[in-house]
Amino acid sequence: MSDPQQVRIFDTTLRDGEQSPGISLNVGEKLEIAEALARLGVDIIEAGFPIASPGDFEAVRTIARQVEGPVICGLARANPGDIDRCWEAVQDAERPRIHTFCSTSDIHIEHQLRSDRESVKGLTRASVAQARALCEDVEFSPMDATRADVEFTAEVLQIALDEGATTINVPDTVGYAMPMEYAAFLTRLYELVPDLRGVTLSTHCHDDLGLAVANSFAGVQAGARQVECAINGIGERAGNASLEEIVMLLHVRAQSTDGLHTKIETTEIARASRLVSRLTGYAIQPNKAIVGRNAFAHESGIHQDGVLKDRSTFEIMDARTVGLEISALVLGKHSGRAALKAALEELGYKVDGATLNAAFKRFKEIADLKKTVSAMDLEALVTDELRVAQAGWTLESFDVEASSRRPPHATVTLADPDGQPATGEFTGDGPIDAIFKAINAATGIDARLREFRVDAVTPYADALGEANVVVELGDPAAAIRTGTPGVLSGERATGSGQAVATDIIEAAATAYVRALSSAVSQAAALAEAPAEELTGTP
Ligand code: KIV
Ligand code: ZN
Repeated sequence: MSDPQQVRIFDTTLRDGEQSPGISLNVGEKLEIAEALARLGVDIIEAGFPIASPGDFEAVRTIARQVEGPVICGLARANPGDIDRCWEAVQDAERPRIHTFCSTSDIHIEHQLRSDRESVKGLTRASVAQARALCEDVEFSPMDATRADVEFTAEVLQIALDEGATTINVPDTVGYAMPMEYAAFLTRLYELVPDLRGVTLSTHCHDDLGLAVANSFAGVQAGARQVECAINGIGERAGNASLEEIVMLLHVRAQSTDGLHTKIETTEIARASRLVSRLTGYAIQPNKAIVGRNAFAHESGIHQDGVLKDRSTFEIMDARTVGLEISALVLGKHSGRAALKAALEELGYKVDGATLNAAFKRFKEIADLKKTVSAMDLEALVTDELRVAQAGWTLESFDVEASSRRPPHATVTLADPDGQPATGEFTGDGPIDAIFKAINAATGIDARLREFRVDAVTPYADALGEANVVVELGDPAAAIRTGTPGVLSGERATGSGQAVATDIIEAAATAYVRALSSAVSQAAALAEAPAEELTGTP
């Protein structure tokens, strides 16, 4: 018997979230995030859009095969090719789902689909029937529903239900609705389509007016029992409803909402949030609800005084509930390998063998420079170490001569994907420019910097620096050496890389080399099978 007050969490970090500008995750990174989502206890993972590219397909298939627990879902437009490809990607999951969609607003039907309402009904009928013949669990979304005629949307939903859809999702695609309107839209759909009571109704709200969580909550109050959301609220444009906000809203205010609740393991929230931020390169704003570094900080004297007397004076939840207070865990320079392994296990990382040895070596180097190594440092270090194995090129050594009298000059030595040394040098506008261009010279790859950021892992003067880099492979006409002998690609590929070090130039250079390696493997994949140009036309 399903629990009528349980709200299912459908996480779309890897699909709608991954569509955010500048985010390009590789298969390994997507798998790492999917495993974090499974630990978090999300009910459904929307793992990607399999038809979009060979990389997307591979990621969805890998997640379907390896991640246990949640339903694994793939997205498909309402056409036979998309649905077949989606099924191919998700079919090996313990519990697969196909999510297909078709717009019901006249704006989309006329201007994007260049079609008419009758065709939308036909596409819905055919695509849900096809998906249902392949998979027992089928979700249908009338895209741009909140700007559509509710009566027409209801007709389309009745068709989807007649063909066997098991979840109906109501997207506020452009983040235009207000909470009362969104709730009223859902209530009206329930009136017009009584069969909706027999399936799960879902919300999918975008944050263009900052109302995604408020609208999702209004939808739940109107009867929806699935919320589509993303970690840190990432997603198209202003993003999706933030998973941590809707989950904690239901958790903290359960008594005022008739016991509406989720099955999320809230203590995993902060860790999942940091992982997504680290891998996507999307920083978490300091005042972000639930996971921002100031979400539980008290600055004013009056607030500090109150919290010291009793935390409930200015806190509505305990930081430990969302896993934010792990800083009690501290190691020093005399801590041994066993203590490091135990500390990492407490943080949820099981590392052994070569990775543990490498993490221990780096821990010792850092512990020599810093008096104590905090949980945040350890987490940054181990996730960095786990990533080393994925890189094609590696940074062996570098020198940067900086002076106020002449432009900085950098020399680098890298190991190529076969372990052969490659050196390069460059005189740049600044030390970072010099070292990045020296890396281009060493690899022979024409890469252009798209994004670069350095953050401190902890808020202290001896903090580790964490660098995030996004690169794009340059001039499509130029021959690009891809690192795979003999493979040349003129496609414009992008890659992102992250790295952690006490020296921020080293962190930046390592992140750049990793970004470049990731762009090169994307270029190689594109050369083999170019990504399909996705249009809204099914
Ligand atoms: O925003 C939207 O409408 C979507 C659909 C594909 C569900 O992301
Ligand atoms: Zn969306």
